[in-house]
Amino acid sequence: MHTLTLSPPAGSSTSTRIRIGDHAISEIKNITKNDENIVMIFDEGIRSIADDVASKIPNVVQIPVASGDVSKSLSEVDRIVALMLEHGCTRKSLIIAVGGGMLTDLAGFVASIYMRGIPCVLVPTTLLGMVDAAIGGKTAVNAGACKNIIGTITHPTDIFIDTSFLQSLPLPQMQEGLAEMIKIAAITDAPYFEWLQAAIPTFLKRDAKTIDEAVLLAVTAKMKIVEQDERDRDVRLLLNFGHTVGHAVEALSGFKISHGKAVSIGMCAEMNIARCSERKSIEHLLALAGLPLTIPEVMKGHDLWILMQSDKKNQQGEVKIAVPKRLGEGAIETISEKQFASLFA
Ligand code: GLY
Repeated sequence: MHTLTLSPPAGSSTSTRIRIGDHAISEIKNITKNDENIVMIFDEGIRSIADDVASKIPNVVQIPVASGDVSKSLSEVDRIVALMLEHGCTRKSLIIAVGGGMLTDLAGFVASIYMRGIPCVLVPTTLLGMVDAAIGGKTAVNAGACKNIIGTITHPTDIFIDTSFLQSLPLPQMQEGLAEMIKIAAITDAPYFEWLQAAIPTFLKRDAKTIDEAVLLAVTAKMKIVEQDERDRDVRLLLNFGHTVGHAVEALSGFKISHGKAVSIGMCAEMNIARCSERKSIEHLLALAGLPLTIPEVMKGHDLWILMQSDKKNQQGEVKIAVPKRLGEGAIETISEKQFASLFA
């Protein structure tokens, strides 16, 4: 097992201890033994994993949450807070969040505001959660049609990344995580990208050693970015590679196209607009992971452009994209509607 420490810039937040490996969850009993009122918020869809985690923590209060983005709301926050009050949770209580990115974003948000903030431990159960959502302190819920529009940057005290959970994760969910792994490698870490080029076939066969290494390298790459720019002002913006077009594709499909697939399509479109020299090798890796590369023909450029302008990371109608100028080296570019429209000519 590997243990890493994510240390955000001095004075801003506390550090996070991240354990990564096969059965890493067995260590959770050591960190919870002195806490009172431990609450485990978990995704109902992974009850057997949640039961296993609960069996390691005496007297844990369990709060199940329905699967799906519909739970990522202020009304769900309200319901969880009411249950925590009913159970007598205080400022000394601890939240353990068990589930994918939706669940860790939601439970992390509750922990960051309950009595002005209580500690939180994350147990991501999906590849996307392990390599992206759980790392870096972002917590969020949706409001109206806006995704992740209410949230905080509050780091968990500990993250347990138990890679044995991935042995039974369905392929489409593995691909969701792979899209983010390829993204971070392509735009911030060329050696990791080259390693992935050789490792993806073995990874998809669920070789445990390859999975451990792939997750460790992805988490390390993301930690480096978060430690330089915790608050999304500088290099962390590079992690939006594929997301400007991707979010628009996801929304225009009525969320029928999953986030990972939309980001893959978004990366290809953004590299095309910016004429990236590494486009072919990045597209090849996405295809190897079984991810889509092109915007569905039914989608109109102007409709996507309107959605891209309203993204929370864009201002005054300007649309920015993050693209790799070279492998592992990204830059932010501002694009015009004319440039975007050229994709559809
Ligand atoms: N998921 C992008 C970030 O954490 O900044």
